[in-house]
Amino acid sequence: MTIKPRSLVIGAATYVPGLRNLTGRRTGGTVSARYCYSVWLRHLCMLHRHGLPTTFTTVVELGPGDSLGVGLAALLTGAKRYIALDAVHYADSERNIRILEDLAALFRDRAAIPDPTEFPHLQPPLPSYAFPGEFLTSARLEAELRPARIDLIRAALANPEASSRNNGPVCYNAPWTAGMVEDATVDLVISQGVLQFVHNLPDMYNLMANWLRPGGIMSHEIAFQSIGITTEWNGQWSCSEAIWRLAAGRRRHVTNREPHSTHIALMQEAGCQVVTDERIVRDSGVRRENLAPRFRHLTDQDLVTSSALIQAVKLP
Ligand SMILES: C[S@@+](CC[C@H](N)C(=O)[O-])C[C@H]1O[C@@H](n2cnc3c(N)ncnc32)[C@H](O)[C@@H]1O
Repeated sequence: MTIKPRSLVIGAATYVPGLRNLTGRRTGGTVSARYCYSVWLRHLCMLHRHGLPTTFTTVVELGPGDSLGVGLAALLTGAKRYIALDAVHYADSERNIRILEDLAALFRDRAAIPDPTEFPHLQPPLPSYAFPGEFLTSARLEAELRPARIDLIRAALANPEASSRNNGPVCYNAPWTAGMVEDATVDLVISQGVLQFVHNLPDMYNLMANWLRPGGIMSHEIAFQSIGITTEWNGQWSCSEAIWRLAAGRRRHVTNREPHSTHIALMQEAGCQVVTDERIVRDSGVRRENLAPRFRHLTDQDLVTSSALIQAVKLP
């Protein structure tokens, strides 16, 4: 048995009326502008490194969490429209506006990308954390950092409902539904630490692929870990359905337990070509003979892949 006793207690507590909302009240990193800056630039640097575009007109982010900072960084580097889709409404105008100002200052200073000393758990790692001036050129940034443009984004954040209705630069839907994004209108779909929580992955990948124009890109950082529920980082794959259900309880966000190979297969089935597949590898905490029946098919590579940045292009 690899489940932490504390997880069972929390899982059981989520069935008590009122206690479920005590789980997942905050999502993690996007309360900090430096975190959002680092996430956006890491995705962008990896796109550049793999010969993919780094300029986009319309960007969709799945699961922005506590703020819209990653999308605001996209708007400050050239995107014209940012659509945020979250399962839960976490972000608020005041925090978004503060993060916008901080991000603008970071871009004006051409600040280095916050690295693992500042965010030790943030993925993907980069070979260099220097500011990527080779593609975020001064000409490109100066146009986006004009006071009039920042004012436009600030006004959209102050009144996101009006911005959404009027095709403004920011559109925040939480909770979201499938019809909120038109097919073939999006240039980039990005997510950071989200797809491990989505429960109908085949539908999700089909939706995301349909939103993209041909040649559009998906860039997803995904973790394949039990996130504290089991003693081993990948103990989720050794738990029976019944034990897992008990420990997971009705927590707001519970990993779907799908491994790396599932995501690659679903992206391809949805009509996308995988270009980047940067995996973080760790020794497996569980032995193959201890895998639960549902996970016996895991490949050797799945068993040791703790997270991955996967970037794919929508085929015509
Ligand atoms: C661990 S947080 C990550 C937040 C943020 N991306 C970050 O890097 O800090 C997971 C986020 O995914 C969102 N999420 C979970 N399932 C989702 C779904 N089906 N659609 C959209 N967002 C989802 C959660 O509400 C939460 O905001």
